[in-house]
Amino acid sequence: MKILLLGSGGREHALAWKISQSPKVERLFIAPGNAGTQGVGENVALKADDFEGIKTFVLSEGIDMVVVGPEDPLVKGIYDYFKADEALKDVPVIGPSRQGAVLEGSKDFAKGFMQRHHIPTAAYQTFTSETLAEGKVFLRTLQAPYVLKADGLCAGKGVLILPTLEEAEKELEEMLGGMFGGASSRVVIEEFMSGIECSVFVLTDGKDYVILPEAKDYKRIGEHDTGLNTGGMGSVSPVPFADEAWMKKVEDRIIRPTVEGLAAEHIDYRGFIFFGLINVEGDPKVIEYNVRMGDPETESVMLRIKSDLVELLEGVATQTLGEKTIEFDPRSAVCVMLVSGGYPEAYEKGFPITGIDKVEGSIVFHAGTAEKDGQVVTAGGRVIAVSSYGRDKEEALQKSFREAQKIQFEKKYFRSDIGADL
Ligand code: AMP
Ligand code: GLY
Repeated sequence: MKILLLGSGGREHALAWKISQSPKVERLFIAPGNAGTQGVGENVALKADDFEGIKTFVLSEGIDMVVVGPEDPLVKGIYDYFKADEALKDVPVIGPSRQGAVLEGSKDFAKGFMQRHHIPTAAYQTFTSETLAEGKVFLRTLQAPYVLKADGLCAGKGVLILPTLEEAEKELEEMLGGMFGGASSRVVIEEFMSGIECSVFVLTDGKDYVILPEAKDYKRIGEHDTGLNTGGMGSVSPVPFADEAWMKKVEDRIIRPTVEGLAAEHIDYRGFIFFGLINVEGDPKVIEYNVRMGDPETESVMLRIKSDLVELLEGVATQTLGEKTIEFDPRSAVCVMLVSGGYPEAYEKGFPITGIDKVEGSIVFHAGTAEKDGQVVTAGGRVIAVSSYGRDKEEALQKSFREAQKIQFEKKYFRSDIGADL
């Protein structure tokens, strides 16, 4: 098979690493990829949302399957673009239709969907600039802290958690006034939920699903979960509280109703679903849906899938996922993200990265890297994920922290408390 994977981050390097291990794969292309993905496949200089460029490439190379890493091309409708094109319609795209991607693209839609299908989540209401006054009244019915969410995609910055009513009212006004452009023309206000978060992933063909290993992500920049939110500073799998009994609740109350709800609403969905969950006194509740894998969760989740991922993806494409099984690696897997100093605020790029070749016993996934004159340089906020296996998470973390020291670039920073809370 010839597979084209879209995207350029650590998630895509991890997906490419796993896909490339399949005996079914003859050639793997990554568009646009990064300095790491070319070690497991062939980079193609195409943006993940350049549909016309992708079409030309798919047809000229005879691509058999397209796997979509990030949400952007999905929200823009790449699945529908392929389906509607006479020459492309038989090339499966792993990812939901544009309508399915609205689960991530609109918080208001996601909340309504959960309400319709009785899926546990925080109580909420949605407001616009016309209903600002009602929004302020609703805020007064809630208790601090206050959770405000821009309805649309904001590159992970659209959620504000505010300690006082005064701040919440002020931010609500600013969000509805265009703080995130059109993305915050509608704002979801919801009840604050207290608990530990866990990311659960499934692959679905629209009828059946397989549950992938779960993971915990570390979002804040500072140790002990302080400071600004980032795209994710590390991940751990498995998650100790996500035992069999808890995962059964997740499957019965959340996963099955979601897959059945999509089918009942005639939403074409053949791809990954990412359930951002929170454990509230033993009960899982949904914080958000994403229509893709998590980053940096993928950099530990892929290590824990023993089965051939491509076989599962084929099950999705041919709607035979019900006949497939998934086997997990019993070991723990973790990832520690090395980031550019200054991230998630302003940071410099272009610093040479050395020492990757010295890493032993861990797997290096590139995130924001590029190659310049034969030298790997930093090209993003999140630069490199150092992933490791261990008998338990402590052993895996020890390895990742040790190997992370060997990789050098100017202003490198990482959190040395990943996994410490579990
Ligand atoms: P989201 O973009 O929806 O994942 O939100 C970003 C982060 O905000 C989540 O990972 C949570 O840590 C936090 N968050 C969002 N909604 C809530 C909520 N209702 N209660 C508590 N924390 C929340
Ligand atoms: N790690 C969270 C995300 O990918 O959205």
